[in-house]
Amino acid sequence: MTIHKPNPHDSAPLHVTGRARYTDDTPLPAGTLHLAFGLSEIAAGQITEMDLAAVRAARGVRTVLAAEDLPFANDVSPSIGDEPLLATGEIHYLGQPLFLVIADSHLNARKAARKAEVTITERPAILTLDDALKAETHFESPLTYQRGTPEPQSSPHQIEGQIEIGGQEHFYLEGQAAAAEPQEDGMIVHASTQHPTEIQHKVADALGLPYANIRVVTRRMGGGFGGKESQGNALAVACAIAAHLTGRPCKMRYDRDDDFIITGKRHDLRITYTAGFTAEGQIEHLQFTQYVRCGWALDLSLPVSDRAMLHADNAYYIPNIAITSHRLRTNTQSNTAFRGFGGPQGMVGIERVMDHIAHHLGRDPLEIRQANLYGPAPRNITPYHMEVTDNIAPELIQSLAESAEYTARRAEIEASNAKNPVIKRGIALTPVKFGISFTLTHLNQAGALVHIYADGSIHLNHGGTEMGQGLNTKVAQVAAEVFAQPLDAIKITATDTGKVPNTSATAASSGSDLNGMACKAACETIKQRLTDFAAEHWQQPTANILFTPEGVQIGSETLSFTDLIKTAYMHRISLSSTGFYATPKINWDRIQGKGRPFFYFAYGAAVTEVAIDTLTGENRILRADILHDCGTSLNPAIDIGQIEGGYVQGAGWLTMEELVWDAKGALKTHAPSTYKIPAASDRPEFFNIALWEGENREDTIYRSKAVGEPPLMLGISTLMALSHAISQCGDGSTYPDLDAPATPERILLAVGAQRSEIW
Ligand code: MTE
Ligand code: MOS
Repeated sequence: MTIHKPNPHDSAPLHVTGRARYTDDTPLPAGTLHLAFGLSEIAAGQITEMDLAAVRAARGVRTVLAAEDLPFANDVSPSIGDEPLLATGEIHYLGQPLFLVIADSHLNARKAARKAEVTITERPAILTLDDALKAETHFESPLTYQRGTPEPQSSPHQIEGQIEIGGQEHFYLEGQAAAAEPQEDGMIVHASTQHPTEIQHKVADALGLPYANIRVVTRRMGGGFGGKESQGNALAVACAIAAHLTGRPCKMRYDRDDDFIITGKRHDLRITYTAGFTAEGQIEHLQFTQYVRCGWALDLSLPVSDRAMLHADNAYYIPNIAITSHRLRTNTQSNTAFRGFGGPQGMVGIERVMDHIAHHLGRDPLEIRQANLYGPAPRNITPYHMEVTDNIAPELIQSLAESAEYTARRAEIEASNAKNPVIKRGIALTPVKFGISFTLTHLNQAGALVHIYADGSIHLNHGGTEMGQGLNTKVAQVAAEVFAQPLDAIKITATDTGKVPNTSATAASSGSDLNGMACKAACETIKQRLTDFAAEHWQQPTANILFTPEGVQIGSETLSFTDLIKTAYMHRISLSSTGFYATPKINWDRIQGKGRPFFYFAYGAAVTEVAIDTLTGENRILRADILHDCGTSLNPAIDIGQIEGGYVQGAGWLTMEELVWDAKGALKTHAPSTYKIPAASDRPEFFNIALWEGENREDTIYRSKAVGEPPLMLGISTLMALSHAISQCGDGSTYPDLDAPATPERILLAVGAQRSEIW
């Protein structure tokens, strides 16, 4: 059995010894050229003149390309074709690529890129949500999902409020990178991407070639987090065009500051709410309006905004609810996928409402949360009219509250806060219910390719990409399981559009669900052929052929796996197969807001305890307890790693990671010096993670559940715990409506408001 075992990540020794190869490490021939973009220093306007003479004359420069020099398509958009690789006159944001420098070294390309004389007729930039609302720059008409008739005023109690939720930079350790090697009639592209197939399409269109002439290869990424779903397109297309025009291999990587300034981030949102509820805190009516800052191009903003709406309920049944979403265009980086894909923002909205109701009624927020959970019919219908059939939230929350001693600790914290004027502590439990599947139904498909060579070694390929999440290890476990072979008998290979075609991005947490199933299908096809062959060759019923770790049992004989393969080869049995999987049961109409967008839900809950210094606003997490549902985990070690990392990334987003643009639209936080992500020392000192025991009720790969994104939302408990700590500062009459990220500044202001201090 290799499945359900805590096998280490297949690349762990390579990661820690520096031998793991990333795109920038791809050995390329001498004479490889290096690229850099020249960037706009203005957020909005029209180019009137672009003098590139000094760039062309700079040291080491081969060629400089502007939009008019591109041979075919000038577009790197993953959706509607609104993202020129190089600006065509109109300037959409500060940091937009204007021209492409091709030089003999990375440094020379970057230096030359700064020498352009660009004249731009400036227009007033639309930077903030307020600017966008005033200018009415909607990408599509506001969308509403509704169930029942929300009339909050008809309930005994009402609250209304608003929360601003900041964006987040992906801060993958390996920045964006790509390389292209020209072929006789096409291109091989190495890319740090979650979506090799999309790069294949974009490169083909840019070169005017059929998709079949382009091969995209991805061995691994040093982190993607959604930031490499679409944001790598520009570099790959630039490399391919440059390689095509010069006949030389070309490579491009963004320096960290450029990466921040050029690429899109998590969408920042403003959510307003009006809730009507009973004296017991049960919500009867709820209205949400979500204002989404999409940036300058559409990118993935529609499905991201949809997912924010689809998680506005989180784990709670709301009889009458309307969620309206405004998708707004601004002159800033084009916001994109980020772990949770809008879900986290939607969930922060409803968790804020729970917290606010509890404050209004003077109750423990956990009681309010529990009173509103999904339950038996009729309390099992989502705002998008899908039935929740796998609800484990009530038991899971109860179990965590007990193991984390939530109630006793909350009482102890409040008692000690009363005696402690400076340091105040807070605690909160928040649940997660996250929908698994791409909401664009056709994306829920995957392929795999498995070869067994004549020596019995197994070569595995599938359409998913490895970004550190351990997908390759999990899929290899599946292959090892089917053949009853040790894990190291499975050779994991780079994702390659030439091996498995028409793949979806490795995203929506569905990598192991989809590719695990496709791999299983491929392995089972070969295993069936081997079984049929052995039955005939050794004259045994097929039921007597068994693959075991000791070898293949054929009646009373045991043959080594290698000997079986050698014999099968000699008898001309095909030892290679593809496999395919398409998720069953799902359908979705995104405009109507009706259907079953998700195959199932992944659940979890976290209890976080924090402390704040009321004189400085500084804060830290003291302890976190997590109970998370991975179904029957494919690999508990990797899953716990995902939970730990997801929680910390979520907590970082809501507490310390702050993006700041100046009045001209320049991103001022564009390096680790100004943009603070959690460090190892920010990991809670007491960090207890347990896996929920229970299999997926749907027939997924070995009854496991997806784990990539859901744990990020466990970090929401941090924001709510900070809110609790702040509420302990004054007489408790004011609700601390803390925006995110809850930086020391915001905490200090909120503490001041509690104490009626004027700042
Ligand atoms: N874990 C690591 N270490 N690095 C990453 O880039 N990306 C996350 C998550 N976990 C990521 C990660 C995101 S955004 C997604 S969608 C999933 O992994 C994708 O992989 P999976 O579908 O195989 O879980
Ligand atoms: Mo993850 S945001 O779906 O790449």
